[in-house]
Amino acid sequence: EGSVPHAFVTMGASGDLATKKIYPTLWWLYRDRLLPSNTTFYGYARSKMTVEELRKKCHQYMNVKPEEEDRYEQFWKLNNYIAGSYNDHGDFKMLNQALIRHENGIAANRLFYLALPPSVFKDVTVLINNHCMGKNGWTRVIIEKPFGHDADSSLKLSNHLASLFKEEQLYRIDHYLGKEMVQNLMTLRFGNRIFSPTWNRECISSVLISFKEPFGTMGRGGYFDQSGIIRDVMQNHLLQILSLVAMEKPVSIHPDDIRNEKVKVLRFISPLKLDDVILGQYTGDPVGEGDAKFGYLDDLTVPEGSCTATYALAVLKINNERWDGVPFILRCGKALNERKAEVRIQYRDVPGDIFGGKLKRNELVIRVQPGEAVYIKMMTKTPGMTFDMEETELDLTYGSRYKEVKMPDAYERLILDVFCGSQMHFVRSDELSEAWRIFTPLLHQIESEKVKPLPYKYGSRGPKEADAKCSEFDFRYYGSYKWVKNH
Ligand code: BG6
Repeated sequence: EGSVPHAFVTMGASGDLATKKIYPTLWWLYRDRLLPSNTTFYGYARSKMTVEELRKKCHQYMNVKPEEEDRYEQFWKLNNYIAGSYNDHGDFKMLNQALIRHENGIAANRLFYLALPPSVFKDVTVLINNHCMGKNGWTRVIIEKPFGHDADSSLKLSNHLASLFKEEQLYRIDHYLGKEMVQNLMTLRFGNRIFSPTWNRECISSVLISFKEPFGTMGRGGYFDQSGIIRDVMQNHLLQILSLVAMEKPVSIHPDDIRNEKVKVLRFISPLKLDDVILGQYTGDPVGEGDAKFGYLDDLTVPEGSCTATYALAVLKINNERWDGVPFILRCGKALNERKAEVRIQYRDVPGDIFGGKLKRNELVIRVQPGEAVYIKMMTKTPGMTFDMEETELDLTYGSRYKEVKMPDAYERLILDVFCGSQMHFVRSDELSEAWRIFTPLLHQIESEKVKPLPYKYGSRGPKEADAKCSEFDFRYYGSYKWVKNH
């Protein structure tokens, strides 16, 4: 947008999210010259601080290369920091004055990133609306989870926001929508003739969407205990992936056409029941190293005897013509054996087997991280003189196929999208309310009955009962196949 002034305001600039994620992202976007040329940055928070001090806090996350030093200096020259409270009209007027000075009377655009705790969210949005809306340009507001705690509180929050801003001004982040392979789901599905005819209950037996992390909640237990793994990862990140895997083809790639389809497919899912889930909580591994020795309950920030799940598996059913009877298994956990996020589309057995039961099912695997990849597990004749057969793969591994391509971080893409006004990769309020509709009764039941999660050891695959549930729902795990990197 040429030299139109843009102001990017980080509310909660001294906090964790801002220093670890937002400032580094702004710097990378600035470094790569992706932002409008006349952009200035404002940090706002309660702590009294100088830009210099803010810079010190952020520095270790910024990844500055020696040859970028000059540009890095320029970046910080464009930064301002304002200390103020989150509920004082005068302070927000002062912030507005600071923005006006930079804008110099011409049409100018404003972005507000709310990296704030939920407790001050309401006040801040009201005050932004009262005092800090751009007069001659657009104002956009970026917000992050938690979007409420359940269906009711989320609806209240949505109504509150809707009374202040238009939906086009609101950018709800689910950072999984900024990941390369999540964004690729649409292209893979709707840009390839080969997949679309098989993308249904006739051919697919189950879909497994999983998220694994090899570390626990150490230090973050206080926050985590309020949410638990279902709210933290499943109800948002995994459900977003599910809707992209399962939705019908949108009328166009216009953001609202896409989001209409995402909402529609979610509406075919009934609320989860306790029987549909397995819950787990990690325990320390006495022979583990470092943090692995400590279970979730050993975290001093976690309330004694907490029943919060750090692992969950849930089986969802989509009651439409395409998916009736196909289990969608969502699985996520902390303190597991590896870091991985992937989608596994498992095909049905070949009907009319002539190979004496040697066949293994086809699987289309979309690896979100680490190491983006798409591969299809398939049967092939064992090469050579024999007429035996074996599993192999058609493999698109980004690390070898696209060696030169720099993969931007999810936040880089998403923040840039906000500058460009593209809501394609952001969560619309009706999507959010469908997500809460599916999970709220289950969450309330778990909390009111204090359902005890199953213990699993730090560094393991999770509770054994979860594997059993997968096979009960026809996800076949052969254990015979290993995907090999860079072969
Ligand atoms: C966040 C969750 O939304 O996603 C964290 O709050 C989780 O608990 C994180 O660790 C995972 O994100 P990524 O991009 O590292 O996979």
